[in-house]
Amino acid sequence: MLLLKADNITKRFKLFDTFLKSSKEYIYALNNISLSLKKGVCLGIVGESGSGKTTLARILADIIKPDKGEVRYKGLPISDKKIYREYRRNVQMIFQDPYSSLNPRLTIHSSFSDILKEHITKDKTKITEIISNTIKKVGLEEDHIHRYPHQFSGGQRQRISIARALILDPEIIIADEPISALDVSLAAQILNLLKILKNEGKTIILIAHDLAVVKFICDEIIVLKKGELVEQGTNFEIFNNPKSQYTKNLINASLMKEERVAFSS
Ligand SMILES: Nc1ncnc2c1ncn2[C@@H]1O[C@H](COP(=O)(O)OP(=O)(O)O)[C@@H](O)[C@H]1O
Ligand SMILES: [Mg+2]
Repeated sequence: MLLLKADNITKRFKLFDTFLKSSKEYIYALNNISLSLKKGVCLGIVGESGSGKTTLARILADIIKPDKGEVRYKGLPISDKKIYREYRRNVQMIFQDPYSSLNPRLTIHSSFSDILKEHITKDKTKITEIISNTIKKVGLEEDHIHRYPHQFSGGQRQRISIARALILDPEIIIADEPISALDVSLAAQILNLLKILKNEGKTIILIAHDLAVVKFICDEIIVLKKGELVEQGTNFEIFNNPKSQYTKNLINASLMKEERVAFSS
């Protein structure tokens, strides 16, 4: 079943746009990008920095609107009133910077309660049960939920932001470079967690600039370069028979990084 579809997405930004001066020139963060996401699939989106990955993720999660094109969820445009609430609940994003998804003034319990009250239930016992199950699932202790976001280490905070994305039990998780701020062993733990979620049937979009990350977990891969889609294929096709030189370069860069890690450990 097709869950999410993006048709001919274009998004441009003004080159500069300040209080005093606004550019007449644009850069195209995304130029005519289409993709479809089937249930249970893990789709990797790769490309070097500035290739449009975050912009695409934010459009798929309806955080920003495209200039052209449309995102569809279960066949309907996401703006459609019939589907919007279901879409909001079922498509959740994990951000590269976990701080951005957590309210610094609320404990984890309070912020998660607010989300659950809006979408699932007002029953306090049920809410506490869902929160504690989700917290355990991401490998944190139950009493952590009474802390504030700043009282966690970087790795714990990324787990909290994953819990934040999981709390409504969404169908689709969009993870924007969820491990790039973490050291190697923490990164491996978070990747393993994503793999478990995938094995449980979640549909995942995983964004990475390092191809080793998507190789480990993704079924299909899309390669972006400066807002253009340069290549797409299955994991096997991309790694065994990359067509564009750009993809080959990304693969080589990733291999070199693996060697450096092996060297240093
Ligand atoms: N809010 C914004 N205003 C202006 N330019 C932006 C904005 N967001 C992204 N861009 C530009 O769009 C391009 C793609 O950015 P982004 O989607 O963040 O790429 P990636 O996540 O692949 O590094 C970059 O050139 C970036 O500078
Ligand atoms: Mg990005």
